Amino acid sequence: MTQPKDSNSKKPASSIWGGRFAGGPSQLMQDINASIAYDQKLFAEDIAGSRAHATMLASQNIISASDLTAILSGLDQVEAEIASGTMVFSEALEDIHMNVETRLSEIVGDPARRLHTARSRNDQVATDIRLWLRTRISDLDKMLQALQQALYDQAIQHCTTVMPGYTHLQTAQPISFGFHLAAYIEMFGRDRARLMDCQSRVNESPLGAAALAGTSFPIDRHQTADLLGFNRPMANAMDAVSARDFAVEFLSAASICATHLSRLAEEIVIWSTDRFGFIQLSDAFTTGSSIMPQKRNPDAAELVRAKPGRIMGDLISLLTVLKGLPLAYGKDMQEDKEPVFDAEQHLSIAIAAMTGMISDMQAQPEAMRAALAKGHPTATDLADYLVRELKMPFRDAHHVSGSIVALADQKGCALEALTLADMQAVAPDLTADILPVLSIDNALNARTSFGGTAPSETRARLQDAATRFQLA
Ligand code: ARG
Repeated sequence: MTQPKDSNSKKPASSIWGGRFAGGPSQLMQDINASIAYDQKLFAEDIAGSRAHATMLASQNIISASDLTAILSGLDQVEAEIASGTMVFSEALEDIHMNVETRLSEIVGDPARRLHTARSRNDQVATDIRLWLRTRISDLDKMLQALQQALYDQAIQHCTTVMPGYTHLQTAQPISFGFHLAAYIEMFGRDRARLMDCQSRVNESPLGAAALAGTSFPIDRHQTADLLGFNRPMANAMDAVSARDFAVEFLSAASICATHLSRLAEEIVIWSTDRFGFIQLSDAFTTGSSIMPQKRNPDAAELVRAKPGRIMGDLISLLTVLKGLPLAYGKDMQEDKEPVFDAEQHLSIAIAAMTGMISDMQAQPEAMRAALAKGHPTATDLADYLVRELKMPFRDAHHVSGSIVALADQKGCALEALTLADMQAVAPDLTADILPVLSIDNALNARTSFGGTAPSETRARLQDAATRFQLA
């Protein structure tokens, strides 16, 4: 951080709140206090809130119709100036609320000075951030849907592409690549549901709560809530200005989603190594090395894998700011915005990069099938056969199948390469029927239970997912 300039310099008292002050804040006070550097992001929401508030003040005869006309046209101009980058923000005016109001005063004069009637920056800032987050959550929902679509488009092509399913990252049972990808369609579906559920609590109006206790003016909080598209005005003015749990919920949903993205990112890293070779990433989502000419590094996947670091940090930041904070507003709460902005920005880019990687990646079916040659992935099918055909209790069948696996290991071959005679040495009642049961494709096709990996079942569940998540 740069040294604050002239930390002892005297400034004039604030034109907005300086009535009882003889002098202005020190430079240092201004440096620690100002939020305009980051809350200018909320300008459109701040202006939308002011339009609704002014409209309501006029319809309640608290300000005149001509004041309203002046305020609305002035706000249009302020918005255009900010959008085009011509507005000069002032640190002395602390935040977006006072910057907008002061510029409005310069443009329309007295009517602007009546806009803050029956309002406080406390309800204003809570309104702004709720409006901002409401839109961003809708955007994230669309982005997650696009990611689900990319996963679906790959999955539907690979319902018969066999690969090892892992537990403990050790070969477990054969699955299809499509089935594996479809797991993530479900995870991102729950992330969407969490965000939308959070949005229903974001979408309540604090406007008109004023500083903390409501106001003696005959305002209509239902009207401002309606004008801004909120579901309802918040029922308690003190809660309305103090509550930030909506933002904590967002950061929590964002952290869970980032965690899901990082699990997929890690699988992409593993799948694209030359040891696995299950997928090839496109040039568009890999980078080269400055020294090793052969390298194709999965940097985008690694960065997505890293994102939960900062997004969980954002969640913990805000929870820590709020913990033990007495009602109602405290300036501590100004520290709510950067974590929310940061999480939204990094979650968005992580989702977009993941969507690009998934769309572009090329599955390598031969490598996936070859990986099934090790690890005896059909040992469970052998045990299931012993239960079904020889009526063994599953625990006994598990033991027998394990002994046959040990025999294959002794002989240095795959389970399905053993002869019937080899297997009969362990389980004399086995017949030749067992041989096809041990094939990889049979093991895949056999798992037809609801939600299982059999191609017919995976296709049925994908079709159902397409309906539930509105995929094409
Ligand atoms: N910039 C402030 C914030 O972000 C706005 C609210 C200021 N309220 C106050 N009572 N000083 O929280």
